[in-house]
Amino acid sequence: MTTRLAERFAPFGTTIFTEMTLLAQAHGAVNLAQGFPDFDGPEFAKAAAAAAIAAGHNQYARMFGIPALNQAISGWWREQTGVELDPDAHICVTSGCTEAIAAAMLGLINPGDEVILFEPYYDSYRASVAMAGGVPLIVTLRPPTTDHGPFWFDPDELARAFSPRTRVILVNTPHNPTGKVFSADELRQIAELCNRHDVIAVTDEVYERLTYDPSRPHVRLATLPGMADRTLTLSSLGKTFSLTGWKIGWAIGAAGLVRAVRAAHQFMTFATATPFQHGAAAALASVDEREGYIRDLMSQFTWARSFLGEALARLGFRVYMPDGAYFIMVDWTACPRARSDGHADDVAFCRSLTSVAGVAAIPPSVFYQNREHGKTLARFAFCKRRETLQSAVQRLDRWAGTS
Ligand SMILES: Cc1ncc(COP(=O)(O)O)c(C=O)c1O
Repeated sequence: MTTRLAERFAPFGTTIFTEMTLLAQAHGAVNLAQGFPDFDGPEFAKAAAAAAIAAGHNQYARMFGIPALNQAISGWWREQTGVELDPDAHICVTSGCTEAIAAAMLGLINPGDEVILFEPYYDSYRASVAMAGGVPLIVTLRPPTTDHGPFWFDPDELARAFSPRTRVILVNTPHNPTGKVFSADELRQIAELCNRHDVIAVTDEVYERLTYDPSRPHVRLATLPGMADRTLTLSSLGKTFSLTGWKIGWAIGAAGLVRAVRAAHQFMTFATATPFQHGAAAALASVDEREGYIRDLMSQFTWARSFLGEALARLGFRVYMPDGAYFIMVDWTACPRARSDGHADDVAFCRSLTSVAGVAAIPPSVFYQNREHGKTLARFAFCKRRETLQSAVQRLDRWAGTS
């Protein structure tokens, strides 16, 4: 049968995660492509979800989240910002941050409105803007110019992207795939432009607790002057608690912004899985257990980041060490072994690495509107067990002839 796909999805195809995972499976490769842990989340959260099922919490939840979860999210927010939310007015629980992104775009964007995105971007952003009939305006994050510098944007390019047609700017910090943590200065520039042009900021903060450099802490755009009423902060449980399959996310913001998210959410999923909301409430509300879990997780990720980053540098890749999230971007054209194969681009390199070296990575050009910008890059996920990373590095060493 000929495809019946609606035109709005024509540019997107199958996501690169699906493609690389299938290729990794076909070649028995170590999968450092997909950004989810190969270990489990905390016992206390899993026990709470299992107990909720046993206790009969198995019917539709309240549309915008079970009271215990909305309260737990408002406690999490209070701890970090000092701001008291009304859990029933300022929060909407969604099926992962991905649903929150789609619901925010559908709820806020009128056809033809412009949405500013930084590229490279998490791949659902472009599709969500397209679903809402919005027009993406792209500002490029450029690779570091110094050894330890972060990815950066040109402030003039950003200022030029704002116009009377701009409705929303979407900011992801800590950032996937670059690991950039937007600095307070950069966020102040964004805030100033939003205030000047009366633009709504939507932030994706799913990696909010995963940062590695105390001198580059995570700053919430919503806490900057003038931004509390014009920022919708999106996040989820998946990355912080290694529970990506639960798909519990949320949107936090002024009542008018959250109403827009709810308007779309009620017709997309209506409500999110009830027992997992109970598990999520336990994960967020058990402060001591939760902080213990995050401490252990961060010591594992800190080791993993150095181990993989050093190994990739030893193989000759130019490594852009991340300040946040759990990915390492490299310039693969700096690696002599990779260069010697004469790959045309990042997609060819990552396919070959998967089938020949037995290690899967993501070709980041799919995260760029102008694919040329990502052609020399590759993204490795390090949210994996020690043994998984050791096995990946052994395979890379063999491939490069360094072992
Ligand atoms: C930047 C970013 N936002 C959102 C998500 C998805 O979040 P969730 O699983 O809560 O839908 C991801 C997952 O990789 C991500 O990297």
